[in-house]
Amino acid sequence: MDDYTAATYGDRIAEVYDRMIPSSAVVQPLARLAGSGRALELGIGTGRVALPLAACGVDVHGIDASEAMVERLRAKPDGSAIPVTIGDFADFRMDVGFDLIFAVFNTFFMLLTQERQVRCFARAAEHLTADGVFLIEAFVPDLTRYVRGQNVNVTTLETDMALLDLTRHDAAGQRVTLQHVLITGAGTRLYPAQLRYAWPSELDLMARLAGLRLRERWSDWNGAPFTSSSTNHISLYEFARG
Ligand SMILES: C[S@@+](CC[C@H](N)C(=O)[O-])C[C@H]1O[C@@H](n2cnc3c(N)ncnc32)[C@H](O)[C@@H]1O
Repeated sequence: MDDYTAATYGDRIAEVYDRMIPSSAVVQPLARLAGSGRALELGIGTGRVALPLAACGVDVHGIDASEAMVERLRAKPDGSAIPVTIGDFADFRMDVGFDLIFAVFNTFFMLLTQERQVRCFARAAEHLTADGVFLIEAFVPDLTRYVRGQNVNVTTLETDMALLDLTRHDAAGQRVTLQHVLITGAGTRLYPAQLRYAWPSELDLMARLAGLRLRERWSDWNGAPFTSSSTNHISLYEFARG
């Protein structure tokens, strides 16, 4: 995948994203954290989260590398009212501060090097208000998924379609390269993605480099405690004081 860029995932998957991705209970907790303030979504995509969050009264802004994803957002009711910057969330500069900056649904891992992830933490810290929160929702890496550095997973199997995930794992780079393969009567469609995963402890260290510290870590959007058996985490970072 030598020609893969920050926009590739979104540009390819935009046509099916809203049908493929399940909804989640993410909106109310984000609305509580944003309060009456301003929020910035890193990788806003088609507005799956941003639109219902804006409907709760939050002033939501977004960044995304993919024009195709943002076109989908703008085509939805109230979608064009959300200010979106087309760009790279590893390295953004805006004139305003945010009470909440968030990257949900593993989107932070779409930054493919440690250096870009560290830079994103720094940019987030620069754009947070004094009491602001930087939130990341991500999976906890599970290397037992891979046999000989590979995994094939049947995600959906129906009478007229199958969705398979083909994955390769590079342990040294903490990188996962995958294809969502959609097979229907009309043919086969390929939706490529690449991720650089990090353990929660590495994210906490990136936060420290940016002058932030972990405030809370949940295992789900209901605020359940994070434990050694949690498969996902929602981590909230705030400015380190004292
Ligand atoms: C998995 S989707 C999540 C979209 C949305 N946040 C949601 O939860 O439905 C990831 C989004 O991040 C965008 N993206 C990936 N890498 C990016 C980068 N480096 N800069 C800006 N956007 C990026 C993609 O285009 C895509 O819209």
